[in-house]
Amino acid sequence: MSEAWTQERIRERARALGPWFHNINLKGVSTAPEHFLGDYPRIKWQRFAGALPHDLAGKSVLDIGCNGGFYAMEMKRRGAARVLGIDFDEDYLAQARFAAEVEGLDIEFRRLSVYDVGALGERFDVVFFIGVLYHLRHPLLALDLVHEHVARDLLVFQSMQRGSDRVLPLEPDYEFWRTDIFDDPGYPKLHFIEREYAHDPTNWWAPNRACSEAMLRSAGFAVLSHPEDEVFICRRSERAPDGYGAVYPARGRGAAG
Ligand SMILES: C[S@@+](CC[C@H](N)C(=O)[O-])C[C@H]1O[C@@H](n2cnc3c(N)ncnc32)[C@H](O)[C@@H]1O
Repeated sequence: MSEAWTQERIRERARALGPWFHNINLKGVSTAPEHFLGDYPRIKWQRFAGALPHDLAGKSVLDIGCNGGFYAMEMKRRGAARVLGIDFDEDYLAQARFAAEVEGLDIEFRRLSVYDVGALGERFDVVFFIGVLYHLRHPLLALDLVHEHVARDLLVFQSMQRGSDRVLPLEPDYEFWRTDIFDDPGYPKLHFIEREYAHDPTNWWAPNRACSEAMLRSAGFAVLSHPEDEVFICRRSERAPDGYGAVYPARGRGAAG
């Protein structure tokens, strides 16, 4: 253990920075031992960690909505040359900076909304976009922006999902009078949450699995694997020139901080 960060000091600082959403083990001190989902996000990570390259030497990683930095730290441990975590919540960023410092990991954390990723002016080999989509009022716009500005190769995507796990094979088009497909549980559905779900007013949408896959495809991401119920590993592909890019004026570089 480093001299500077004794367990007592870590515990004290972690408490001052709380409450935490990420339960991170910092030299034997758990940041959120009472997490309602258990040892989260480690239990989630263990279910899809094997689906990502183990060696990220020379690669760059962007973690969008990085929260307490759990995934950014895991990527740095895999040898990524550059890891940037962004979140629009300063309290979570303070947690992430502290956790990375205790673990001795060189990671940059910056306050930035996913809507402003255009300001980064940089693409990343691996982009994490997990646990964020359903918190956004404009989820497809966010995916479009990720595609347009920051994704170079792999996208690690996760969303809370509700509804059927069935995926209806879709035809390219349907006649106007054909309405039965919309009642099929396997048709892509994005449930709108006007008020609250799970006591969280920032839960705006809950896609079913078919909808997660369809939105990813529509934004230009080919699904490579589906290692966990809610997780999709994707590869960025060039979009067909359909004119449906991100309809949002990317803020000038350096304008968002
Ligand atoms: C449920 S947590 C997920 C944290 C982490 N990615 C994970 O999967 O464990 C959602 C995170 O997204 C962040 N967030 C929400 N809206 C955002 C936005 N527009 N831009 C960037 N981060 C956002 C929140 O502050 C929070 O840290």
